[in-house]
Amino acid sequence: MPVITNVYDLKRLHKMRTPKMFYDYCESGSWTEQTFRENVTDFDKIRLRQRIAVDMTGRSTASKMIGQDVAMPVALAPVGLTGMQRADGEIKAAKAAAKFGVPFTLSTMSICSIEDVAEHTDKPFWFQVYTLKDDDFMRRLIARATDAKCSALVITVDLQIMGQRHKDLKNGLSAPPKLTPKSIANMMTKAQWGLEMLGTKRRFFGNIVGHAKGVTNPSSLSAWTAEAFDQSLDWNRIAELRRMWDGPVILKGILDAEDAKQAANIGADAIVVSNHGGRQLDGALSSIRMLPEIMDAVGDKIEVHLDSGIRSGQDVLKALALGAKGTYIGRAFVHGLGAMGEAGVTKALEVIQKEMDTTMALCGRRTVDQVDRDMVLVPEDFAGRWA
Ligand SMILES: Cc1cc2nc3c(=O)[nH]c(=O)nc-3n(C[C@H](O)[C@H](O)[C@H](O)COP(=O)(O)O)c2cc1C
Repeated sequence: MPVITNVYDLKRLHKMRTPKMFYDYCESGSWTEQTFRENVTDFDKIRLRQRIAVDMTGRSTASKMIGQDVAMPVALAPVGLTGMQRADGEIKAAKAAAKFGVPFTLSTMSICSIEDVAEHTDKPFWFQVYTLKDDDFMRRLIARATDAKCSALVITVDLQIMGQRHKDLKNGLSAPPKLTPKSIANMMTKAQWGLEMLGTKRRFFGNIVGHAKGVTNPSSLSAWTAEAFDQSLDWNRIAELRRMWDGPVILKGILDAEDAKQAANIGADAIVVSNHGGRQLDGALSSIRMLPEIMDAVGDKIEVHLDSGIRSGQDVLKALALGAKGTYIGRAFVHGLGAMGEAGVTKALEVIQKEMDTTMALCGRRTVDQVDRDMVLVPEDFAGRWA
């Protein structure tokens, strides 16, 4: 059993143990990957203020996101094709999150269906929807999430069209993977992955195949996906979607103060400051850089969360110190899953919690409530001077 001390250890194992097509799908940004890289490197520019001689006994990372208790304010972000990183990946990740006490968000583009995840977990999870053209399908999807007792709806608003990730095109990404001499040769080096995959029936997009009109088999799915996203999306439609869900709604993919104000106006319960992990608009600024401006605009009106670039508990604390009430991890938990299945997701969460706890102690903070702007040192030009 390798010694895992940080998320990058899990990332190395993920790369070794998962077919290239799926590892690359995770570890990519759009086009030049500038935004993908800066999401991570911008966190490094923020430093922490060491404090001493503060009683640090009785520390806790517990907090709340949208009024729900969390063991730490770190949810698992919706990640499509999680069930291709490891067999039954969504169920494994949801179980790890439930045991740990953090929210799991199931993607529309998951392999395990909403019903399947609900059946195999005993705590409510959050469900993420894309804004799709097919109103009937949308309504049924939301009704299925209600029936599964999902405790929040996350509406992703930054994917009216898809950013291009070069590696996916070059690898011929698909679920299940297309069998070519190259992909077979690569999969043969991933024995554990292959054995587990052979042992599951969950290899297709579980929320879509058999549910969306005209999609009865995986080969008709790619045509559906290209057509499905609603390019005519506007704020009226987002408000309509908000009204379809009788519970907390989180709008994910806000990167601009004006958009954040609109989100508050339509009655969303929270927003996620996010650039989709650098997978959509390459050249956009990192989420952490945009956070202070968005906090100034709506911090007193709506709960603000952040994702994109979080790889450690220190990153979580930096986001909290700049005003976020919660955060999400995408790749950090997928690395855990690809490395070691459910135990790997638990490991990723443990690593992050330990990093949070030790950092809080060394900064003289005992509770998440005490994490404030004073805990970090931010370069004066962090936001940048852009015209
Ligand atoms: C492989 C992968 C698949 C993703 N699929 C979805 C998705 O289906 N729906 C969604 O809203 N966001 C999706 N995202 C974006 C994540 O929810 C999240 O915004 C992003 O991963 C955060 O950045 P991080 O990976 O640096 O933590 C995906 C991200 C990755 C890495």
